[in-house]
Amino acid sequence: MTALIELSNVDKTYNQGQVNEVRALKGINLEIAAGSMVCLQGSSGSGKSTLLAIIGCVFPPTSGRAAIAGKQLSRLPDRFLTLHRRASIGFIFQRFNLLPELTVQDNITLPLMPLGVGPRERRERAARLMERLGIGHRAGFPARQISGGELQRVAIARALINDPPIILADEPTAHLDHALSLAFMEIMGELHRDGKTIILTSHDQLITGHPAVERLIGLNDGMLHVP
Ligand SMILES: Nc1ncnc2c1ncn2[C@@H]1O[C@H](COP(=O)(O)OP(=O)(O)OP(=O)(O)O)[C@@H](O)[C@H]1O
Ligand SMILES: [Mg+2]
Repeated sequence: MTALIELSNVDKTYNQGQVNEVRALKGINLEIAAGSMVCLQGSSGSGKSTLLAIIGCVFPPTSGRAAIAGKQLSRLPDRFLTLHRRASIGFIFQRFNLLPELTVQDNITLPLMPLGVGPRERRERAARLMERLGIGHRAGFPARQISGGELQRVAIARALINDPPIILADEPTAHLDHALSLAFMEIMGELHRDGKTIILTSHDQLITGHPAVERLIGLNDGMLHVP
């Protein structure tokens, strides 16, 4: 089977050529099969979020090749990259990236706007996800007024709202208690059984040791290693 995600010789250098240059990824070669569920592991600063951002088309590698479903990401013009990201990727960011003044419901339904989904359908989809994640009672609250764990669940709902084939989740349980973390992994397990490709990063034993996780990928100082 050909890999869904293929990285070869991927380097990412922040602030290249400046005094604060950081080589965050060094020569990454990685293939991830369609429909798999994997977890990136590594100490703080090892490059997990950077690797996820490249897979998620947030920015291209500094050098090397990154391809999804045979499409070379670095060759796509920005607007195609944006379209591809909207249609194919649900991204749960480590820092959530929510809009503080918008309500919980509007944050969740935001990805549906450019896809032309009507208001009623948007409300219904959001209601189902909020119910599942236990944040229905916060639907009308501005995001700036809710707790860290609630914000994390809003970010999870927003990533799932357009039913993307690829789900990327950066430390998705960092702000969740044990019961909510289990509920999150139950949702991920179901999505995985539905055939979605799921890439997580975590230190949380509940994720790294979860039976649905098929493969652990270790990162150390910007390089892959077998854990
Ligand atoms: N925007 C940026 N500009 C400059 N350096 C950055 C930037 N983002 C990350 N870095 C640096 O790149 C390296 C990798 O960072 P990254 O966020 O990928 O690590 P991480 O494994 O996700 O860490 P954590 O577990 O703390 O989230 C770190 O040394 C970090 O300081
Ligand atoms: Mg990180």
